[in-house]
Amino acid sequence: MSIDTNPDNYQGLRPVQLRADGRALLLLDQRLLPAEEVWLELDALEDIAVAIETLTVRGAPAIGCAAAIGLYVVSLGLPESRGEFLTALRAASERLANTRPTAVNLFVALQQQRVAVTDQLARDPDTNVARLREILRATAEQHVRDDLRACLELGAHGAAKLPAGGILTHCNTGALATAGHGTALGVIRSAWASGTKLHVFVDETRPLLQGSRLTAWELMHDQIPCSLICDNMAGAMLARGEIQAAIVGADRITRNGDAANKIGTYTVAVLCKHHGVPFYVAAPVTTIDFSLSSGDQIPIEERDGAEVREHGGVLRAPATVAVRNPAFDVTPAELITGIITERGVFTPSELALTSSR
Ligand code: MRU
Repeated sequence: MSIDTNPDNYQGLRPVQLRADGRALLLLDQRLLPAEEVWLELDALEDIAVAIETLTVRGAPAIGCAAAIGLYVVSLGLPESRGEFLTALRAASERLANTRPTAVNLFVALQQQRVAVTDQLARDPDTNVARLREILRATAEQHVRDDLRACLELGAHGAAKLPAGGILTHCNTGALATAGHGTALGVIRSAWASGTKLHVFVDETRPLLQGSRLTAWELMHDQIPCSLICDNMAGAMLARGEIQAAIVGADRITRNGDAANKIGTYTVAVLCKHHGVPFYVAAPVTTIDFSLSSGDQIPIEERDGAEVREHGGVLRAPATVAVRNPAFDVTPAELITGIITERGVFTPSELALTSSR
């Protein structure tokens, strides 16, 4: 049975929500999973910004959703005078934009909010603050709904491509990383639901273990067969013929089809090329940045070295050893078999077609 692509009928996990009274951002704390399921209720700008920086909420589309809802929630506490409100709103938006540089969805969400407010003021310069807040709320809710719909639809497109057998994935691209359902993991979910016999190999995804902590948790919840592997085992699994395809998400895809994703994705793509195994990238169209011509223009976040020196808060290296900790790498278009979006599946060279559908 295939998955219903109508977001209104979606029953799965929504990790980023507006609280029912409309006054706080609800986040499932992803730092604590899978040990604890704790929901946070945030309404202060700094708390929301820090939640994004610390990966309390993470995954490109989910960060965009958190920023969109977060900006609305923060607007509730801003001054009632329109001039002061707009100045403070701009500052809040800038603070959120400065949290993480790589995932373009964050900037898309904030830009949608900015355009919604400026369009309204262009139509009616006397619009009061209460009405501007309503517009921020409606825009945020639409952003979240659009992301969920995109994930459900790209899941259906990708499911038609995914072969049966071993499927390798990297990082977490599930419901947790989006408004719901997921991108690469959404494709896996949709393929499994439509009867494709899969066994998912889950890269643990050092240093922050999004694969072992989050992807394995989501797959087990859905009873989709999976095996957790250390990142350095993927090559051996491919050499043994245990993997028929790899599928990952993306944080930003450039015009030429290069794709930034969690560090280690490039390694997987090179391995797939060597072994003649298809390598798919699944992402909503909001992840494509047509303003950049190639992947070398994507800003790559460099995170604290403690994330590499330590593991679970325990020091695993000399305390002062120098560390490199880029959070993302760029997979060049020539290693990508297909980019799966809500508008269909495209080769990297066909990517421009996504904007005309
Ligand atoms: O640092 P993270 O956990 O936010 O990185 C997330 C990823 O790299 C995901 O693969 C990507 O955002 C796609 S999520 C649908």
